[in-house]
Amino acid sequence: MHVLKDVKVRHSPWFEYLQQVLELEDFGSDLILGALNFTPDFALHVLALANSPTFSANTPIERLDRAVFLLGRKTIRDLSREVDKIPLEETDGFSPISWNDFVLESVAVATGASLIARAAQIPLVEESRTAGLIHDLGFDLLSRYDSVGLRQAWDAAEETGTRLVDHERLFCGTDHCSVAEELFAAAGLPDSLTVVGGLHHDPLVAPADHIYLTILTYAGECLAQRAGLQNCNSGKPALEDRIFEELRLDENTTSSFVPLLLSELEKLGLSPRCTSLAKV
Ligand SMILES: [Fe+2]
Ligand SMILES: [Fe+2]
Repeated sequence: MHVLKDVKVRHSPWFEYLQQVLELEDFGSDLILGALNFTPDFALHVLALANSPTFSANTPIERLDRAVFLLGRKTIRDLSREVDKIPLEETDGFSPISWNDFVLESVAVATGASLIARAAQIPLVEESRTAGLIHDLGFDLLSRYDSVGLRQAWDAAEETGTRLVDHERLFCGTDHCSVAEELFAAAGLPDSLTVVGGLHHDPLVAPADHIYLTILTYAGECLAQRAGLQNCNSGKPALEDRIFEELRLDENTTSSFVPLLLSELEKLGLSPRCTSLAKV
C-alpha cells in the first residue's frame, strides 16, 4: 500500500471516530466522508492512494468524495491501520497553533471555498472543499521540520502584522507553500491540488488551468477570516478585493456568506472564535 512516510497522522478524537466508522459495515461513504473532513492529514493519504497507479488508472482524483468512492471502505480502513500515527500530545509542542485549531481552520476554508464555488457557479464545489481541507498541510510539516524557525517567523509576523509566509522564508529557508507543493507532488496528487498547495497565498500567479481552484481556496480563507477565524490584530487578506472581483461577487453577496459559513460550521459541531489562524 502507498504510505506517505513524512505525514504521520494525529491520533485525534476525530481520527478515532473515523476508525470506528470504518469498522462498521452498514455505513455508507457519506459517513466516512463526513469523518474524513476532520482529518486533513489522513485525507492526504487517502488522496495519495486514490491517485496511485493501482487505483486511478491515470485519471486525476481531485476530490475526496471520488477518492472515497473509488477506494471503498475496506481499503480506507486498511490504510487507517497502516499509516504511521502519533499521539496528539506529542505533536502540539511543535506548532504555534494546536492541531485542534489547525483542523478548525482547514474545515472552515474547505467549507467557505465550496460555498463560494457554488455561489459563483464554478463547477469546482467538491474540488475546492478538498483543496481547502489540505491546503495548509505544508505548515504542519514545516512545524515538525523546523519548529524553532517557524516560531521565530510566527513571532515576527505577529510583531509586524505582515504575512507569515514571507517570514518563513527568512527564518526557515522555505515556506509552508513550497513544502506543501513538494509534498503533494511526491504524494502523486493532481497538478490542480499541487498548485493550490504552492500558490494559495499568491493565487493570481497560478497557471491558467488551475487558477480557479487556487482563487477559490484563497476566497475560502478570506471568508473564514471574516467569520472570526483570525488573529484579532490581522487585517483582511491583501488580495481579497481582487479575488472577489475575479469571482464576480460583490460586497453584499460576500458578506452574506459569513452567516452561511457560521451555520455550516455549527452544523459540523465547530464553533469559530477569534484565534491566530489567519496567518497560515
Ligand atoms: Fe497557508
Ligand atoms: Fe490557510
